[in-house]
Amino acid sequence: VKKIAVLTSGGDSQGMNAAVRAVVRSGLYYGLEVYGIQRGYQGLLNNDIFAMDIRSVGDIIQRGGTILQSARCLEFKTLEGQQKGAQILRDRGIDGLVVIGGDGSYQGAEKLSRLGIKTMGLPGTIDNDISFTDYTIGFDTAVNVVVEAVNKLRDTMSSHERSSVVEVMGRHCGDIALHAGLASGAETILVPEVSYDLNEVADRMKANFDHGKRHSIVIVAEGVGKGEDVATALKERYPSIDPRVTVLGHIQRGGSPTPFDRNLASRLGDFAVRKLIEGESNKGCGVLKGELVLTDIEKVVNTKKPFNMELYELASRLSQ
Ligand code: F6P
Repeated sequence: VKKIAVLTSGGDSQGMNAAVRAVVRSGLYYGLEVYGIQRGYQGLLNNDIFAMDIRSVGDIIQRGGTILQSARCLEFKTLEGQQKGAQILRDRGIDGLVVIGGDGSYQGAEKLSRLGIKTMGLPGTIDNDISFTDYTIGFDTAVNVVVEAVNKLRDTMSSHERSSVVEVMGRHCGDIALHAGLASGAETILVPEVSYDLNEVADRMKANFDHGKRHSIVIVAEGVGKGEDVATALKERYPSIDPRVTVLGHIQRGGSPTPFDRNLASRLGDFAVRKLIEGESNKGCGVLKGELVLTDIEKVVNTKKPFNMELYELASRLSQ
């Protein structure tokens, strides 16, 4: 490849900028021309493409969001849209593309590779729901946001001997809830991967309060339902449990990326460029047990990420 482009697509995540920076600077370092595509696949279809240089990614490693902006694009899900996108890249002589995003973004990259464009996917999502990588870019920062919020909630819940239900993001994946729940010492963690009984949860909360516990935190992954509904069910069982509900929402997608996310993004961005130069295509980049790995995008999108039951059970054991 001689000319590559980079885009960010789907829901943004902290560390996308660090990944863009790594792609641009590594590409230039290895003698490639590098282009940025604005607003994901939508920008590609609009031919919103511009040349990037060393300076165009200055002062962004610490910033949340994405300077390239992001969008979800329906037109690109059609074959006509994909063919148009591939043609626009070909007309500009761009033969390699790095896509930073989640599942849907990977699928777009897969389609483009079938149309002759060499593609690489970087896992950019707070949800940590991409297979063949232990962590996605943004996940660590999102977990930090949740833990910080729970720390604050604990202060006030404790003063009033209250319980708190905290709804967190993650789409169909419980990883944000699990990791933030373990790190914040939550009493209960509800995730879509593990079945639960709200009456049992309420019984345990009641028993713990009766035995001197002064507060109770229930983390609910959005994949299991609404925090408000969980709170209502708990209160129905024991009116004395009257949880306050906090929906953290998009706050989890903002803020400066943690050093972990910046370094993950930097390693993956550089790796993607090197692999494109080596002639690889249609691959997802990841880090497994500390090692950089490449996996066929088709395999990545068709494999469900395993849930860490060991961590879940540990959280339950420690939350008495
Ligand atoms: O995929 C990232 C994510 O933040 C999910 O956790 C959440 O379900 C979804 O995006 C929210 O999407 P939107 O930003 O379109 O409301």
